[in-house]
Amino acid sequence: MSLKKMNNQNMPAHIAMIMDGNGRWAKEKGLKRTAGHEEGAKVVREITKYCSNIGIKYLTLYAFSTENWQRPKLEVEFLMKLLDRYFKKELPIYLENNVRFKPIGDLSRFSKYLQKTIRDVEEKTSHCTGLTQVLALNYGSKDEIIRAIKKLNEQELEVSEENLESCLDTAGMPDVDIMIRTSGEVRLSNYLLWQNAYAEMFFTPTYWPDFNSSELDDIISDFVKRERRFGGI
Ligand code: FPP
Repeated sequence: MSLKKMNNQNMPAHIAMIMDGNGRWAKEKGLKRTAGHEEGAKVVREITKYCSNIGIKYLTLYAFSTENWQRPKLEVEFLMKLLDRYFKKELPIYLENNVRFKPIGDLSRFSKYLQKTIRDVEEKTSHCTGLTQVLALNYGSKDEIIRAIKKLNEQELEVSEENLESCLDTAGMPDVDIMIRTSGEVRLSNYLLWQNAYAEMFFTPTYWPDFNSSELDDIISDFVKRERRFGGI
């Protein structure tokens, strides 16, 4: 069945992805790791457009984790420049596709310059009503939960699931329906630990630069057949 014709009720509202394997993809081709990130950025664009076309409401991609600062300085610098370039080039494409952009994570560790680029795109796409593309930037789930607890305390809110959720970076977004990790690794790596509580998990050996909309289609088709009981019977 074509995904466009699928009953909307069965379609996932929120797809999250860990885009892994850029380095190995490049190494196996005798290229520098950075070439893998460069190719990975093109896949981000393809998958975002595809999700927007088939009516997904939220796509959350792990672009830079709180642990990624431990990488070699040159690789971190490259990723920062790549992100800046990506956002500047992407703005018209977001607008053309009615895509709203939203960052999650602690942006304060990025340069003021990159923070401004990110906030600019967030602001200029805030009126878009189609897909929300969420990029996790200097994001770690434990860090997010600690920041949320601090907010709860500051606002003197009662500790409840609802109140904690309202203080997470993902406030107002539905929980994750489909969680995908590429490159054959089978772990969550501090990603959306709260939001993935009832997500259906998919792990593919494909390296991120080789991932495409056809493989995503297969995953969604598998997802719609799964019976989700959310702890019931
Ligand atoms: C994991 O592959 C990937 C990252 C840490 C960065 C993800 C970045 C991109 C997909 C490109 C830039 C993103 C945007 C939004 C423009 P890895 O380097 O850990 O690969 P490896 O495990 O094979 O070494």
